[in-house]
Amino acid sequence: MNYHIRYYGDPVLRTKSKRVESIDEDFGFFAEQLVEMMYEYDGVGLAAPQVGVSKRVFAVDDGTGSGWKVVINPEIIRRSQETETNEEGCLSVPEIYESVQRPKKITVRYQNLKGEIVEESLEGYPAVVFQHETDHLNGILFIDHLSVTKRRLLHRALTDIQRRAVPRMDPDFEEPHRLDAEPNPKAKETF
Ligand code: NI
Repeated sequence: MNYHIRYYGDPVLRTKSKRVESIDEDFGFFAEQLVEMMYEYDGVGLAAPQVGVSKRVFAVDDGTGSGWKVVINPEIIRRSQETETNEEGCLSVPEIYESVQRPKKITVRYQNLKGEIVEESLEGYPAVVFQHETDHLNGILFIDHLSVTKRRLLHRALTDIQRRAVPRMDPDFEEPHRLDAEPNPKAKETF
């Protein structure tokens, strides 16, 4: 199957994804494609719903030097009271970058590709990416964390993305082009 990036306006991005029950060969093959697409699109993270698959899994390479990781059935089991504000962008919401406030430190639990349960404490950029991707699995986008005023200011840009994204929901759509085909001079890290 050919996957392509789903954009703001696609209902799959607003759907709560289903738990991964079996980490078998088929699933491993899908996970591999997810990792490949993350690199293809220069993302630091890519969640399954962003390619139209409603499963609780995301790929990540947060630039800490440990390479890529596949995170399955993630849970955030502890969140610090202390928050931090970072600029975020999303492959599914192209060309929009906004500051988002989130808990600074988190403790997470997930399964890796071997099915092992992993527990980690994250802070800084890896914590931001983990929270952003986990949100995707719950149908939440980073723009949902913005103030009403901010979202109102983005309304036109979002409507525009939605309008351009609709043809991409056609199941016969084949070419996995980026929505912003032009190289973006102010391209930043997106996830
Ligand atoms: Ni995203």
